[in-house]
Amino acid sequence: MIHPEQQRRAYLQAMGIDVWLPRDAPEPVISASVEAPGSMGWNELRECVTHCTRCELAQSRTNTVFGVGNPDAEWLIIGEAPGAEEDRRGEPFVGRAGTLLDEMLRAIGQSRDSVFIANILKCRPPNNRDPRPEEAAACRRYLERQIELVQPKIILAVGRIAAQNLLGSNEPVGRMRGRPHDFGGIPLVVTYHPAYLLRSPSQKAKSWSDLCLATRLAAECDT
Ligand code: URA
Repeated sequence: MIHPEQQRRAYLQAMGIDVWLPRDAPEPVISASVEAPGSMGWNELRECVTHCTRCELAQSRTNTVFGVGNPDAEWLIIGEAPGAEEDRRGEPFVGRAGTLLDEMLRAIGQSRDSVFIANILKCRPPNNRDPRPEEAAACRRYLERQIELVQPKIILAVGRIAAQNLLGSNEPVGRMRGRPHDFGGIPLVVTYHPAYLLRSPSQKAKSWSDLCLATRLAAECDT
């Protein structure tokens, strides 16, 4: 049987992640049977994220925040990055914004258990600053693999950071929302981040119309 530490190093290497070892450490023996990143299952991917050191956020995080929900969800919700509470609990959207996200999901007949919720970053940026491009790039393959595994009918990008990263755009949310986008063949809808909606409740009506658009696009996948 392969040793867990050996397996961890092998996964990191398979994902192109540098493995740093003390100078006098023996060379790790890497099993040739390790899966390529593109074929990792949920457990392996989660394990990789848990031990990730691809960017400096690994040094300040308390927990990685892998994502939660139904691995076969029709809806994939993608936010920005964990905040303080998410970092403490290892779960996305558990603060006030999370409560509003739960309400938004309930309004469309979904729940935290029926959808899958993930973020652009799996680790909290200190002081809730915006994710840096190199951090988003380092985390990208984890999210892409999650998308491949879930195979959602619809992706809902909540907030500017999620939308701009997924669509490779610099447009403000106000210009990206309200119309269908495409993410590798999967329909994608942009809407406001629930934290923004808490500050600007007058925008909730627009967000509701985005959710209705996403519902329609998800239904079209069945026809
Ligand atoms: N905001 C996000 O975008 N994601 C979280 O997980 C929490 C807050």
